[in-house]
Amino acid sequence: MGKDVIIACDFDSAEKTFAFLDQFTGKKPFVKIGMELYYAEGPSIVREIKKRGHKIFLDLKLHDIPNTVKKSMAVLSRLDVDMTNLHAAGTVRMMEAAIEGLTRPDGTRPLLIAVTQLTSTDQESMEKDLLIEKPIADVVMHYAHNAKVAGLDGVVCSPLEAGKVHQTCGEQFLTVTPGVRFADGDIGDQKRVMTPAEAKKIGSDYIVVGRPITAAADPVAAYERCVAEFVD
Ligand code: C5P
Repeated sequence: MGKDVIIACDFDSAEKTFAFLDQFTGKKPFVKIGMELYYAEGPSIVREIKKRGHKIFLDLKLHDIPNTVKKSMAVLSRLDVDMTNLHAAGTVRMMEAAIEGLTRPDGTRPLLIAVTQLTSTDQESMEKDLLIEKPIADVVMHYAHNAKVAGLDGVVCSPLEAGKVHQTCGEQFLTVTPGVRFADGDIGDQKRVMTPAEAKKIGSDYIVVGRPITAAADPVAAYERCVAEFVD
């Protein structure tokens, strides 16, 4: 599995997205389409970006009853995305149903990645709101283990958790890590961050980078800097 930099295209319209992607003449970065862009533009945005030759991580974080997730995953699989995701909190049975739905008649399927506990959830809110009273690090590893048992390919996690996830679930189990910032860059609203070089050292398989590239004065140069630090 090749290491890669995934650009989070957190835009609210196709127009802004294409204005951004048009700057990458000759290059086809792996892009993440999240809820904002997908809900604004619908499946046509996925087809159009795919037609331009980009790989796509469709970040819609499904969480519903197994039958609904299975049928929805079948629809997303037909959109020919390369990676998609769900909430591990939906249980092992829901994740198994997702794999079934995602698998095409020829046996191929997009990579499927689980969200464990959102990084916006802390120990206090997990205990108070969700009545989960174990240490959050253990909960994250348990959810990662469940994802592996269900046959998923990996998890979205903080780069700080990537090493432990690989220890628990094996080196082949993918870690897709947001919260990446350049050493001399703005942290913004992210709390626990790592540079692309540090994420590489700790064993992340994919880094998801948004604003350090999308809000840069020269987005192409910022993307190339990420690739140079993380992949090359
Ligand atoms: O702009 P920035 O680099 O912070 O973007 C990170 C991307 O990764 C955003 O699309 C954000 O929603 C996503 N993400 C995250 N933390 C998570 C899961 C997803 O930052 N735990």
